[in-house]
Amino acid sequence: MKVLGVVGSPRKNGNCDVLVKEFLDATEADTEYIFLNHKKLLGCNACMACEHGDCVIDDDGNEIIEKLLEADVLVLASPIYYGGISAQAKTFIDRFYQISRGPEKSLEGKKVVTIMTQAQPEDVFGDYIRSLDKMPFGYMGMEVIGNVTAMGTQDRGDKEELADYIKQVKEIASNL
Ligand SMILES: Cc1cc2nc3c(=O)[nH]c(=O)nc-3n(C[C@H](O)[C@H](O)[C@H](O)COP(=O)(O)O)c2cc1C
Repeated sequence: MKVLGVVGSPRKNGNCDVLVKEFLDATEADTEYIFLNHKKLLGCNACMACEHGDCVIDDDGNEIIEKLLEADVLVLASPIYYGGISAQAKTFIDRFYQISRGPEKSLEGKKVVTIMTQAQPEDVFGDYIRSLDKMPFGYMGMEVIGNVTAMGTQDRGDKEELADYIKQVKEIASNL
């Protein structure tokens, strides 16, 4: 089994980064780690060239998509920014589109674990976060098997503040 951890926060060693690393450390599967903000990843330009092959944008997108295609489980972490996922995480998801357009590739059957971080201590974004199960993940044939939302987190990667959430991600990781 291969697990791909993708960090959608621009903060290195931030809350998403810590939680993804803890997840990857706790699984016995083969792991890959991608910190999106250190990649060159441009927005989808909706040219639909991907209907006939790889994405034509000259950046790290195709390399990232290859890693996703190799993985059995995607762990995608994003901070909540103004009630939604970060630009980096959204750009990554938009670039999946090539897979649904191309005839040979598929994300069907892959499992997803979402990790969200937010300063709000209450569950105010739960409906939005659960909506991601259907769109984009369900739409792409992927199944969300777990979510950890680290609420009330603000300081960069404070392991004490994250202690309960680290436990939660480790539990999902060790039960894959
Ligand atoms: C541009 C921006 C927008 C944010 N918007 C929200 C928000 O709408 N709701 C919220 O609870 N926290 C918001 N936050 C706080 C982050 O979600 C929070 O600090 C999170 O723990 C950061 O995770 P990270 O360390 O992985 O980057 C925002 C932070 C930034 C920088």
